[in-house]
Amino acid sequence: MVAEKTLDTLDLDLPGKFSGKVREGWPLNDGRRLLLTTDRLSVLDKVVGIVQYKGQILNQLAGWWFSHTEDIIDNHLLSLPDPNVALVKDCTPLPVEVIMRSRLTGSTSTSILPRYLAGERQLYGYTLPDDLTPHGLLPEFLLTPTTKEQDGGHDMPITSEEIVAKEIVSADVWEKVEKAAHLLFQRGVETAAAAGYVLADTKYEFGISPEGDVLLIDEIHTPDSSRYWLKSSLEERLAQGLEPESFDKEPIRLSFRAIGYSGDGPVPALDPVVWEQTSQRYITLYEGITGQRFVPGSVPLKERITKTLQPFMEPN
Ligand SMILES: Nc1ncnc2c1ncn2[C@@H]1O[C@H](COP(=O)(O)OP(=O)(O)OP(=O)(O)O)[C@@H](O)[C@H]1O
Ligand SMILES: [Mg+2]
Repeated sequence: MVAEKTLDTLDLDLPGKFSGKVREGWPLNDGRRLLLTTDRLSVLDKVVGIVQYKGQILNQLAGWWFSHTEDIIDNHLLSLPDPNVALVKDCTPLPVEVIMRSRLTGSTSTSILPRYLAGERQLYGYTLPDDLTPHGLLPEFLLTPTTKEQDGGHDMPITSEEIVAKEIVSADVWEKVEKAAHLLFQRGVETAAAAGYVLADTKYEFGISPEGDVLLIDEIHTPDSSRYWLKSSLEERLAQGLEPESFDKEPIRLSFRAIGYSGDGPVPALDPVVWEQTSQRYITLYEGITGQRFVPGSVPLKERITKTLQPFMEPN
């Protein structure tokens, strides 16, 4: 039998399993949670395929970024017991996602480029000038929150003022979140640039820990939660009217768009090469950012992870 080399899902002998589009989680009832990152890829608010090594790359890259940003804000990470698993503080996620942007870009409904091109200048409480160009620099880093919708609902844009006025998040917590998001993004942009990448935008999630602290949770600066472009080819490609060279989910979004798929109905097949290239690019980005070689975890994957997590399944 061919050893399975990708991870679609995992069942553990633990109660309370949570299944997101990409991650699966188990609360441990002691203030901790196991967070498994699968190889599933989601775009257009649904799972559309599997990318080899993606789960491990996301888990380990987020781990790297967490340790390189903990001077800015505490985060949920306790340890990485397995290449695909994080042991984290079990938090109550804030019901908003915080997107930070350095570039006028994006192709999804909450992105700013399509709205700007349609003539909108008032976006997320900011007023944008008329002379911006597609994928070009924004006048400042924008903080553009969205609501976090459950079960396939579409996240909706919301302003900081509304978040506080409607008491979706308390004013003092939101102040901490805004400050952290700006500093995290500044760090992300600078670190990515030093590695040869443009961090065009990214999404942060924050939560309240069992101790009542505001923590950075979920993932940070991964190619799932961010747009990363190759810096060296960017200016020339933009001058030619081409899309940036993306090391994230954007090529998958664009491939679907090219065949007219916008998320409704059954997911059409893409050329297998598109999936392989995505895997390769996630590896390239991981190695570029961390300066470390990517070493795939041992296979079969499910067997390995189940064995590693055995201690968490035994009654204590
Ligand atoms: N420390 C934590 N405590 C509690 N929940 C967490 C923690 N870290 C992350 N989560 C939650 O775990 C889930 C991760 O699942 P996943 O990344 O698959 O999310 P999703 O929102 O369904 O998909 P997508 O990322 O594609 O939008 C999210 O709902 C996130 O809020
Ligand atoms: Mg997520």
